[in-house]
Amino acid sequence: MRSTADAIHIRCLTTLGEREIRGLSDVLIDCVEDGASVSFMLPMTRAKADAFWRSTAAGVARGERLVFVAEDADGTIIGTAQIILAQPENQPHRGDLAKMLVHRRARKRGIGAALLEAAERGARSAGKTLLVLDTASDDAERLYARQGWQRCGVIPDYALLPDGRPCATTYFYKDLGE
Ligand SMILES: CC(C)(COP(=O)(O)OP(=O)(O)OC[C@H]1O[C@@H](n2cnc3c(N)ncnc32)[C@H](O)[C@@H]1OP(=O)(O)O)[C@@H](O)C(=O)NCCC(=O)NCCS
Repeated sequence: MRSTADAIHIRCLTTLGEREIRGLSDVLIDCVEDGASVSFMLPMTRAKADAFWRSTAAGVARGERLVFVAEDADGTIIGTAQIILAQPENQPHRGDLAKMLVHRRARKRGIGAALLEAAERGARSAGKTLLVLDTASDDAERLYARQGWQRCGVIPDYALLPDGRPCATTYFYKDLGE
């Protein structure tokens, strides 16, 4: 990790309180307004973002997800990533990496890489040996490839960008046992 990211604190949330939900919604809204294809369409309202994180909080409480946050020196959340632990009974060894988001003002400082490393460590500690993700972001593709993820292929017209245009998605996996 490079020096700027050393000032950033990464932690796995055991509960998501109002402060965390507000900070996570700030990051999600910023990313969607910037055009990230991460499940949401414009207009990206605070209500939609808060509802997503409240539902995520319930998943964390049930042990179905791990949520990681990157916080700056003031404790402001500037990035996040998740591991979805809950999978069908024939895939207990697999997890999904999801909602890897870094606020625009904090990008290109190694925070994405630090979140990814923390999420992989958390998944391994939870007994996962295989992670899967899909992404519609070139920036994210480079990050995953740098960190040893294998690119599987592209599905055209998989989803919509926030402004309604169709976009492809690229699938990746990482064998944590390697
Ligand atoms: C993808 C995303 C999470 C990456 O986050 P990030 O914090 O910018 O990631 P990093 O800083 O680790 O790496 C980004 C770039 O900064 C560079 N970098 C890292 N530390 C740096 C430093 N200290 N100084 C200069 N450059 C640095 C990296 O080498 C990388 O270079 P590249 O653009 O040539 O590949 C972010 O762009 C994002 O949130 N995008 C929108 C949401 C989205 O689409 N997420 C993906 C969902 S799957």
